[in-house]
Amino acid sequence: MRDIIIAGNWKMNKDALQTAEFCRELKSRLSDVKAEHLRVIVAPAFVLLPVAKGALEGSRIEVSAQDVSSQAQGAFTGEVSAQMLASLQVAYAIVGHSERRQYHAESNELVRDKVQMLLQHQITPIMCIGETLAEREAGETEAVLESQLAGCFDGIELQTGKELVIAYEPVWAIGTGKTATSDQAQQAHAFIRNWLRGRFGAEIAANMSILYGGSMKPENCEELISQADIDGGLIGGASLKADDFVAMVHTGISALSKGK
Ligand code: PGA
Repeated sequence: MRDIIIAGNWKMNKDALQTAEFCRELKSRLSDVKAEHLRVIVAPAFVLLPVAKGALEGSRIEVSAQDVSSQAQGAFTGEVSAQMLASLQVAYAIVGHSERRQYHAESNELVRDKVQMLLQHQITPIMCIGETLAEREAGETEAVLESQLAGCFDGIELQTGKELVIAYEPVWAIGTGKTATSDQAQQAHAFIRNWLRGRFGAEIAANMSILYGGSMKPENCEELISQADIDGGLIGGASLKADDFVAMVHTGISALSKGK
């Protein structure tokens, strides 16, 4: 059975006080959540990871970094290594987010190196892929996904499929208020899972959670998560509001109770 994951990508939002207050609020509002196979994650900025960890201590909410260096250590000013994250018991790191691909020219090869670093330190990568509007309109969605998957997984071996999470994030839906329809999203997710089956085998493909990201919010979350191959969300804007984030966690719980 796959886990449903509700993950908040805070991007460059929330300072130290806001992070601590928000985490304390989530901890208390989600304290009675018992669902097995549900993972709840928040991803604050690097510098605030210890603040979030501290405020969430004793809760089931986990913490993710938003990136990691592809290098192990050394003269890389401004970078943060997987070992540093592991030393803070950070369990996840987002890699290959489209904003990093766009503003920092990150390639699939670089993302692959980051994935490798994280796996070496038992940190779960949340690996983002997705097409731009121009690529979708040119009918290239599947070709783009295929080349991102092939590049990001080049030389990577997996044991169970639970040690890595994929987030399908159509670039045109991120922060735009335009959500992919549940059919469009399901189609992409099914394509990704099928590709995983070919590359890693049926068991790993069946175990891996594939999240949708791009203007997910309480109003569309239920329909998206009810799709066969959509196992939760990587949520930006709506994850910054406690009411919305908590509502989406409850949507995840109810999807599990309906046998997802
Ligand atoms: P959004 O961002 O929910 O604000 O569209 C999602 C993401 O970039 O991960």
